[in-house]
Amino acid sequence: MSQLSVEHLLGIKHINKADIDLIFKTADHFKEVINRPIKKVPSLRDITIANLFFENSTRTRLSFELAEKRLSADVVNFSASQSSVTKGETLIDTANNILSMKVDIIVMRHPAVGACDFLSQHVNAKIVNAGDGTHEHPTQALLDSFSIREKLGSVAGKKIVIVGDILHSRVALSNIYALRLQGAEVKVCGPKTLIPKYIESLGVGIEFNIKKALEWCDVANVLRVQNERMEINYFPSTREYTQLFGINKQLLDSLGKKILIMHPGPINRGVELTSDVADADQSIILNQVENGVAIRMAVIYLLAQQVERN
Ligand code: CP
Repeated sequence: MSQLSVEHLLGIKHINKADIDLIFKTADHFKEVINRPIKKVPSLRDITIANLFFENSTRTRLSFELAEKRLSADVVNFSASQSSVTKGETLIDTANNILSMKVDIIVMRHPAVGACDFLSQHVNAKIVNAGDGTHEHPTQALLDSFSIREKLGSVAGKKIVIVGDILHSRVALSNIYALRLQGAEVKVCGPKTLIPKYIESLGVGIEFNIKKALEWCDVANVLRVQNERMEINYFPSTREYTQLFGINKQLLDSLGKKILIMHPGPINRGVELTSDVADADQSIILNQVENGVAIRMAVIYLLAQQVERN
């Protein structure tokens, strides 16, 4: 197979294992390219991409922009806070105005669940979801699995625990879909109030004891508590959260084995991870960021193969 089964990357829920294999094979090639002295290929010289960010981002935004530039695409960037959205322009009007400037692919981050899906039904461009509210963050899940594969040889059969605020996390949902598709065993660990009731229907186990969860797993993917998405208190205090679910070096060293530590960023140092854990040699947090560029190059490259050229 040399083409994705989907026209847009809206979520991992919509793709299959062959798509993931194709993205990883393509990303392997691009990872080799970005480690050369000349880190660019001319593949997408005829493609224009708009990055529409209606929510803050450091890693995803820079990584997409770099990926697009490494592929030699023309790139325009849009921040909602500096745009006419603040004057009341709708999402479709904004997108159509950008498309009339002959844009082929839109990468969008938006606070509303389903915003990318909605856009894909109303505008004539390929859409890549860079995070829609609490729903999906597909390229994050792809780069996470790619990083596990790189360090452990494969994802199939590995035991992954996702720790923290599962309820508000698009990273958790996309990771669960991606890991299950590839045959990993997945558990979640966090306060009962931050674990959605439907989670077991996705083939995922639950462990409330952080030490037991870490003893079980090969990889811990640790998430930030998303206070900005909370309208009520889900646990008594940050201090109590850290005592019950935070990972420190003493806990890590007590396991008697070396697990991989992952985090999508941004990290709240001292809350979900202590600094000595975030910076430990078993932490692959910066490898994840590095792999994000190759994965996003692969996704953009593969979707661009479906763009009609005149
Ligand atoms: N992991 C991630 O999505 O980070 P940003 O919010 O900085 O893009």
